[in-house]
Parts: sequence; structure tokens; C-alpha cells
Amino acid sequence: MTDPKTFIEANKERLLDELFSLLRIPSISADPAYNSDVAKCAEHIAEHMNSLGIDSVEIFPTAGHPIVYGECLVEPDLPTVLVYGHYDVQPADPIDLWDNDPFEPIIKTTKIHPEGAIFARGACDDKGQMFMHLKAFEIMKSNGEIPCNIKFMIEGEEEVGSSNLEPFVASHKEKLACDTILISDTGMISNTTPSITTGLRGLSYVEVEVTGPNRDLHSGLYGGAVANPLNVLAKMVASLHDDNGQITVEGFYDGVEIVSTEERALMAKAPFSQEEFKESIGIGDVWGEEGYSTPERTSIRPTLDVNGMWGGYTGEGAKTVIPSKAYAKISMRLVPGQNPEAITEKFIKHFKAIAPDSVAINVTPHHGGLPYVTHTTNPAYQAASKAYQKTFGKAALPVRSGGSIPIVALFEQQLGAKSILMGFGLDSDAIHSPNEHYGVFNYFKGIETIPYFYENYAKQK
Ligand code: BES
Ligand code: MN
Ligand code: MN
Repeated sequence: MTDPKTFIEANKERLLDELFSLLRIPSISADPAYNSDVAKCAEHIAEHMNSLGIDSVEIFPTAGHPIVYGECLVEPDLPTVLVYGHYDVQPADPIDLWDNDPFEPIIKTTKIHPEGAIFARGACDDKGQMFMHLKAFEIMKSNGEIPCNIKFMIEGEEEVGSSNLEPFVASHKEKLACDTILISDTGMISNTTPSITTGLRGLSYVEVEVTGPNRDLHSGLYGGAVANPLNVLAKMVASLHDDNGQITVEGFYDGVEIVSTEERALMAKAPFSQEEFKESIGIGDVWGEEGYSTPERTSIRPTLDVNGMWGGYTGEGAKTVIPSKAYAKISMRLVPGQNPEAITEKFIKHFKAIAPDSVAINVTPHHGGLPYVTHTTNPAYQAASKAYQKTFGKAALPVRSGGSIPIVALFEQQLGAKSILMGFGLDSDAIHSPNEHYGVFNYFKGIETIPYFYENYAKQK
């Protein structure tokens, strides 16, 4: 194989320009106002796949946003790799906090990315990372050596829960049949400490509504005699953690996999600075479950967080009112041994049980997902590990991530294949936040590393 590095060096500008074209399309899946841009983005990817010589490129419409598929089937005896990624992005809000137009990418240097980073919505999550796979394919194609059968499936609804991908996978099992799934939609420890993601947390997401009086009341005439739904909700929410940072929902920890002392000791070897962590997000101190380190709290332990809370008067100035209703959106990140439906049920039961008679509770469950783990003994992990050794000059550490990609557990159930998560983003890349970016180093390093994965995996299988 000709060195991917040489190819990248000779095509740097074009590789960036092509990604920029993709980033300019505001494919925000959550907002119907962008539906035509989402569709345009799917077409853009399909066209690009065709231009690379990928076969059977097709845009599959769904009840929501389309799925782009393409394949390169070299020979039945070779292992088959299914590449998954998503072309949809999170909304850019709050737009005022961006230093540049989120859909007009620019390159700027940062402390962590002295070689420059691409600032745009989706730069890291996931357009930049997904596009690395098409560019890695281009390298292998130009070398005339495609070591595995490759199938690409790029969806447009990851950020809104992949609800239409699930039936698509279930009804196209043959088309998607593979030995492993390859995904770049996670992160790594740092640019000098590569890591491979071996776990993802699951998710249970609910919206709660607390109803008090049948209308908003004058807070002077009624105040003191009527339970205020916002006060009640605040107290209820506060009671969901005890003084040790443990979640109080009855049965929440039932079945939670206890990570062995050996694995925890291995995890503790990954470089981590509590001081830098605090500084990077501007907090005075960390918080969390007693008995666990910060990296453990964000990976092997489940969580419960309020994502938003509202009600009553939030406009300009003061309006004296006891609101009729109060709301909160609550996410629970889950670990192996926990099931999203069961957790949602436990939450609802608990939340209703702790509510005083002065209010009524309504809970609406949203999308969820199962947690996922893979082991370092997985042949695809070994192939990836060797690839990092080659391009970074050092071994990648196995790390469980705190984020969720619910479709990964479903792939395992439906296709019987494990996913290998070769993510090249950094936690500091501000995914889902204003000023999301992706290191130029990371983009090129991903493109460089992926071809070695295929080479190693073909030998391994
Ligand atoms: N790519 C992220 C998940 C991620 C990021 C995992 C970094 C590990 C490291 C994905 O696009 C995402 O945002 N997932 C959502 C869940 C989804 C159901 C909306 C999440 O984790 O909040
Ligand atoms: Mn993503
Ligand atoms: Mn995301």
C-alpha cells in the first residue's frame, strides 16, 4: 500500500475543501425548517460516493430523513465491514455564542489544536469524522487495493434518536450483513494519547410536567397557601440525588455491572488531570458519586441530569405569579446491566411516589437506547489497535465513553455484529455546543489510520 500519509500531504487543500462543502449544508435533523437542507446533504454524499466509484449508491427515503447507502464488494471470501456514520447535525443555537457562522467553516488555531481546527457545526460530530471514511476509501481505491468488502450506511437522524434507522436495519439484514461495523463518531484521550472507545452509555430520557392550581395565580393573594409547582419540582429534582451523589430512584442501580478492580486499575492508567478538567470548563470543583474518580463517573457509572427546567414567568421584568405548571427534561445515562425501558418505568413510579398531594404529575418518555461494550479481544479491536500503533507510533488505550450512540446496541441485536469505535474527536471539540470544531490533525490522522484498519482486519479474519 502506498503510504496514506503521502496521499494526504499531496491533497491537503482538496481534502479540506471537500469537507467544507459538506459542512456548508445546514443538515439540522431536529428542525423541520431545514428538511430540504437535510435532503440536499444526503444527495451531496450520494454524489460524492458515486464520484469515488462506490457501487450501488442509493438514497433510501424513510418516514423521517433519508439514509445513504453504497458498497464496494470486492470478493465474497474477504471480510465485510459496514461503515456507519451520520450526516445530520445538532441545531446551532445559541447562535450568538458562535465566533463564526456555524455553516461557513473556518480554520483557527487553538491551544489544543496548534495545527488548526475546523470550526463549524458538525465538523467533529459527525461530518468530519464520517467523511474521513470516504477519503480513506479514496486512498485505498487509488492504490488499487481494497482489502475488505465495504458497505457504507450514512444516516440523517442520529441526533434525533435514529428512530427510522431501526426498522431499516431490521428489514435490510441481508443487504447490511457484515463481520464488523466501523464507526468514527466518538473521541480519543488526546492527540498524543490515542484511544479506542470500548463502551457507550445507554440513555433514558423523560419530560416531566407538574401541575398545581388550575390557572396561574396572583402570588400575593394565594402565595403561602398553595404549593407552587416550580418550588415543588425544584425540591423533587433535588431529592433525586443523595448526599453521596447517588441516584435515589428506587431500584435504579439494580443489575448495574460492577467493573472489576483490574479494569478500574487499567482505566486509572489513562492520563487525566483533574485541574485541567476543571479549568477547561470553568468550574471551581468537580461533583459526583462518592467512591468514583471523574473518568469513572463519566463512563462506568449511570447518571441523572436535568437538561432543562421551565415554567411560570420568564419574560422581561417581574410578574408576580404562582404558575399552574412546571416542567423539566431529564436524561439518565445508563451502563451495562440497565435497560432504558425498565429505568424509565422506575423513574415514573418513583417520581409519582415522591410528589405531594398538592400537585399532579405527568411523565412523557422520549427516545432511549441501550448501553454497549466490546472487548479488546475482538479481532476488529485488534486490527484497529495495530492501525493506531502504526500511525501514532504508540498503542491506543481502551476507553469507555460517557456518550451514547443507541443504534450500536441495535446493530448487535439485528446484525449480530460488534461495532468498533475509532473516534478521533476530543472532548474539548465542543460538539453540540457553540464553536464546535475538529482538529485538522485529527481529520488527517483519521484518514491516515483507517486504511490500516482494513489491511489488518483482512489479515486477521
Ligand atoms: N457522536 C455522539 C455521541 C458521542 C460523542 C459518543 C462523543 C461518545 C463520544 C452522538 O452524535 C450523540 O450526540 N449522541 C447523543 C444521543 C442521541 C440519542 C441524541 C448523546 O450522546 O447525547
Ligand atoms: Mn455523533
Ligand atoms: Mn451528536
